[in-house]
Amino acid sequence: MTAFSKFAALAVAAGLAGALPVAAAAQTATKPVDPAVVDAYVKATFGKAPPEWQARIVPDETLQACNKYHNDVPSAEADKIMARELAKVSYPADGKFLGDWKSGAKIANNGRGGQFSDKPDTVSGGNCYACHQMEQKELSYGTLGPSLTHYGKDRKYAAEEIKRAYTKIYDSQALYACSNMPRFGTNKVLSEQQIKDILAFLFDPESPVNK
Ligand code: HEC
Repeated sequence: MTAFSKFAALAVAAGLAGALPVAAAAQTATKPVDPAVVDAYVKATFGKAPPEWQARIVPDETLQACNKYHNDVPSAEADKIMARELAKVSYPADGKFLGDWKSGAKIANNGRGGQFSDKPDTVSGGNCYACHQMEQKELSYGTLGPSLTHYGKDRKYAAEEIKRAYTKIYDSQALYACSNMPRFGTNKVLSEQQIKDILAFLFDPESPVNK
């Protein structure tokens, strides 16, 4: 599977389908694409997916706003998006944010899940390396997002930074309207425990991210 199709599958899983035709169009055309053409294209491709998947193609209120402004939303609209998405974040009931970094390392490097060809019991990964550098020894990573190497160490392992990163992973748009990063918790790509494990990968002093 190519890196792009991996990303495309993840983007659909995360409910970002609307962002793809815009990005593709930006590379090939200078004149605006008729939204009806985009809708027809999405319907002709993803429209063949099983009926229970169809809901994932429909953009929610936030994605509709991002699509309307080609991700460049006015600041009043950005504030509304961030408030709406922040309200969707569910924090751990036990107040513990950090799980097991070894399991987090595997989840961060797993791009499976959310694909038509997956068996129903496939557990989704976070595919973080598609967009971020994390531990230094991993040579294969994308650069759409910033490098997360030494993430916890650089932030002195501070409690408010851990909470902020949880919020970011749970719902990226709670902190940055129209972010290109999937909303992993809100869109149920990752469980709360998986997010805790990834947080430990970012914030445990023993994690290779911080070496
Ligand atoms: C499709 C690309 C993409 C994927 C996949 C992705 N991210 Fe991101 N991420 C971004 C982008 C772009 C930014 C910067 C813009 C923003 O803040 O939204 C970002 C920002 C972040 C930040 C904030 C960085 C800072 O400056 O403090 C963290 C933390 C983060 N991502 C963690 C993760 C983790 C963990 C995963 C995997 C579970 C992940 N990301 C998956 C694109 C992605």
